[in-house]
Amino acid sequence: MTPDALAAELADVRRTLDRLDDRLGQLTGLLLEQVVTSEARTDDAATRHQRVVVDVSRQTQALLQLLDLVEVARPLPPLGGWAASADFLLHLVQHVVDTRPAVVLECGSGSTTLLLALAIRTHGLPTRVVSLDHDAWFAEQTRRRLEEHGVADLADVRLAPLVPTGLPDHPTPWYDVAALPPVADLPPAGVLVVDGPPEVTGRLARWPALPLLRDRLAPGCTVLLDDLGRADEQAAAAAWLDAEPGAHFESVELLKGLGVLTLP
Ligand SMILES: C[S@@+](CC[C@H](N)C(=O)[O-])C[C@H]1O[C@@H](n2cnc3c(N)ncnc32)[C@H](O)[C@@H]1O
Repeated sequence: MTPDALAAELADVRRTLDRLDDRLGQLTGLLLEQVVTSEARTDDAATRHQRVVVDVSRQTQALLQLLDLVEVARPLPPLGGWAASADFLLHLVQHVVDTRPAVVLECGSGSTTLLLALAIRTHGLPTRVVSLDHDAWFAEQTRRRLEEHGVADLADVRLAPLVPTGLPDHPTPWYDVAALPPVADLPPAGVLVVDGPPEVTGRLARWPALPLLRDRLAPGCTVLLDDLGRADEQAAAAAWLDAEPGAHFESVELLKGLGVLTLP
């Protein structure tokens, strides 16, 4: 091979090596990108997992405390999801045991109604529970649970279909208040539980509770609003507070969020 031919081939090899070097740099960059992205994904999954572990452990702790507070001889319905979570039930029951109201009014029957009735029996409370439900099947389910637990006489579940409210600029229907006992037969409520109607019924589904039941609430009444984690419930609570300047509002960090409004 002549020196010229050797030099030409060497130059060729050098160019090939340069191209390979560039490609190696590109591939290393791509690989690094993928490693970083997958580590970030792993971090997200780990954070989500950690949050679930904390939520489960808090609900377990709340349920254990609830079972210390209330005698339960039969299986409870599944808690959480559509039903109130254990931490909300614990807060509700503890408040009712501490304050012994004459009447608890409730929007949305279910596990809340059952736990209230069991608390009344366990602690001999002088409390009457009146619970509204817009759905005949769910109202009947709650009544059956109360019967199974032997506390059917301690909570009054009333079917209250959703009807137009007559409130200005509020097209979402709400419970028919005609389903409540007459004012003369029901003392003002010391506690109002707002856990219905479901949000699928329309915008600001729970806001009418205060304007429509205001004349049924005792001075100093505590309004417990479940699901404060949702934007509609936050808006409802803000509107209530606006309409009740003397009221006090507290947000309690529970699984689904709890708003506590104390009326003047
Ligand atoms: C949020 S739930 C009320 C839950 C009740 N306070 C409790 O703790 O179980 C509001 C209403 O939704 C309805 N409901 C209850 N469970 C449901 C389900 N799994 N699917 C659809 N509607 C349901 C009932 O009519 C109930 O009154």
